[in-house]
Amino acid sequence: MRGRECRVPTFAPALVPHRLDGARPFPRREPRKGRCASRPWQVGAVTGHSGDMSDSSVETTSELVLVTGATGQTGALVAEGLRARGVPVREAARGTDPRFDWDDPATWDAVLDGATAAYLVTPLVPDFAPGLVGDFTARARAAGVRRLVLLSGASAEFGNVPILSREMPLRAVDQDDFSWTILRPSAFAQNFPAMERTLLADGGVRRPLGPAPGAAVAYIDVRDIADVAVEILASAEPDQVRAHAGRTYYLDGPEALGYEQVLDAIGSRIGRELRYEDAPRDEWAAGARAAGVEEVWLRWRLDLFAQQRRGEYAHTRDDVERLLGRRPRRFDAYLADSVSADSWPEG
Ligand SMILES: NC(=O)c1ccc[n+]([C@@H]2O[C@H](COP(=O)([O-])OP(=O)(O)OC[C@H]3O[C@@H](n4cnc5c(N)ncnc54)[C@H](OP(=O)(O)O)[C@@H]3O)[C@@H](O)[C@H]2O)c1
Repeated sequence: MRGRECRVPTFAPALVPHRLDGARPFPRREPRKGRCASRPWQVGAVTGHSGDMSDSSVETTSELVLVTGATGQTGALVAEGLRARGVPVREAARGTDPRFDWDDPATWDAVLDGATAAYLVTPLVPDFAPGLVGDFTARARAAGVRRLVLLSGASAEFGNVPILSREMPLRAVDQDDFSWTILRPSAFAQNFPAMERTLLADGGVRRPLGPAPGAAVAYIDVRDIADVAVEILASAEPDQVRAHAGRTYYLDGPEALGYEQVLDAIGSRIGRELRYEDAPRDEWAAGARAAGVEEVWLRWRLDLFAQQRRGEYAHTRDDVERLLGRRPRRFDAYLADSVSADSWPEG
């Protein structure tokens, strides 16, 4: 069913050359005009609450967007953001109905049925079979999916095989009747506090991330990742589709912070003094092994630390700002919105 349409595209593609794609224009987001422009949920701001779906002027479409990873950090917000734009969504994960399991291709057709676009999240597991993205894409195309946004990771730029190999099948697809867009986010701000459960008990963190302040990372707020994905997926207008076809976007936070700075910010937020200490790599690995961390995850973490020490997550590129017409959220904003002393168990 089509409701009253807002004809304003989510941004006006502007002829701004972009370093990642040579002479092709980078879609620069312009403020919306007209009645639809005044609606905050239509200007790329997924703020953790839905739009007013009872409003008859909500932008609607005959698209059906499949959102995988729908129970995860970005997928849930992407589904919510698309719905707020009036875009029909099918959420998919292992507990949804229909069920979607990357490891069980028998579950794929049901979630793809009727879908015209998809947001693809692959699980962050070291043994994810890279061929799955290619197989799923072929199945999606056969089912009528014409646009696909893949959540990848910033480390793909530096040849991180487990991540890059998930992109490669898409890059091989010709885009005559199908377009893909790849998002390469930096590390998520929202990984805290789950990543550092013992922060309060330990009074800080010891990591092989170099002398204080420790390797710098431009943490990206998952709400900004979702805003970008929604911006790309919300409209099937030909100009919009062309503007994002075959593009790779780097989603970095606005500032690169060492672990010491992160801990200072968290400490100020919750009223605790928290320390960062550099740890020798082998000592840290021995401690993790003794704590029962599996070898495959240990290697994964050590690789991640090495990537961070090489500065691979420290870039602060402006793709988010160009796409959304505003700066990405600061780490402080994430803390203010989501973190309190209750976020961690007392040691
Ligand atoms: N976390 C970061 O800092 C970071 C940084 C850059 C890129 N990334 C990328 O972001 C992606 C998501 O990572 P995340 O750790 O943040 O996870 P997440 O999106 O918060 O959660 C993973 C999602 O995938 C679903 N899922 C897990 N295994 C699945 C399976 N076998 N079949 C179908 N769905 C499955 C989960 O749902 P159910 O468990 O309910 O099935 C959940 O919805 C990864 O590809 C990662 O490389 C993450």
